[in-house]
Amino acid sequence: TDVPKKLSLPQLMHPERPLVMVTAYDHAQARHAQGAGVDLILVGDSLGNVVLGYESTAQVTLGDMLHHARAVRRGAPQTFMVVDLPFGTYQLGAEEALRAAVGLVQEAGADAVKLEGASANELDVVRRLVAAGIPVMGHVGLLPQTATAQGGLRVQGKDEGSARLALDGALALEQAGAFSVVLEAIPAALAALITGRIQIPTIGIGAGPECDGQVLVYHDVLGVNEGPVMKMVRRYAEVGRQSREGLSAFAAEVRAREFPGPANSFSVDDEVLQKLY
Ligand code: KIV
Ligand code: NA
Repeated sequence: TDVPKKLSLPQLMHPERPLVMVTAYDHAQARHAQGAGVDLILVGDSLGNVVLGYESTAQVTLGDMLHHARAVRRGAPQTFMVVDLPFGTYQLGAEEALRAAVGLVQEAGADAVKLEGASANELDVVRRLVAAGIPVMGHVGLLPQTATAQGGLRVQGKDEGSARLALDGALALEQAGAFSVVLEAIPAALAALITGRIQIPTIGIGAGPECDGQVLVYHDVLGVNEGPVMKMVRRYAEVGRQSREGLSAFAAEVRAREFPGPANSFSVDDEVLQKLY
């Protein structure tokens, strides 16, 4: 198949068209994403919710991220791969964060890491990682790892305080050396304002059409989990329904002894079997 070369950091920082990012958590998903020609794959800590069945992304460990990022890398060797630093790996300071990020680069082949927030500690971490040569993507607006402190998983930036937090955060992340920043669940007009104020590309999720790129969770784009669709999501396939229907058909054919058929079965010379009688 014809896979374009992995985009370089300068190419990602000066995109000629909107950047496309999607999450992936395993080898097959990574192959799908690379085959579709996305610009970036995010091994998000949404892993915890959509794949591992945790209550919150705060439960995701570095071990979880390494395990899944390695599988994604093998499935998409030619796609720029960003890996989330999970909660707890950068809250204790820049040295510990650097150790975690080095692990993701060395053991999983991460091209960049992402972290949430822009308080003094996070800015410190960004500077330390960037100085060590590890590209960092920021993330402002709704911050799932610490959503409890934000009053739950809810839209941010509708009041002056949280709007300013998102804007100042994005500006500070750019200053600290981040190469891009995710804007999550903020009003479209605020995202447009932030996008106009910083040079590095903004990648939105629930942040309107004026960001420099868009990101969605694999399971959301493809409808892997059936049920209602979140406002920030548009579904491009019904994989969940197809999976359920396919498995139901398999179950029915097994029960009716219609599977396996001759085409799925192996043969042996009669002579060989005769000797066993
Ligand atoms: O973990 C994740 O999937 C993310 C995206 C929603 C940006 O951080
Ligand atoms: Na995340």
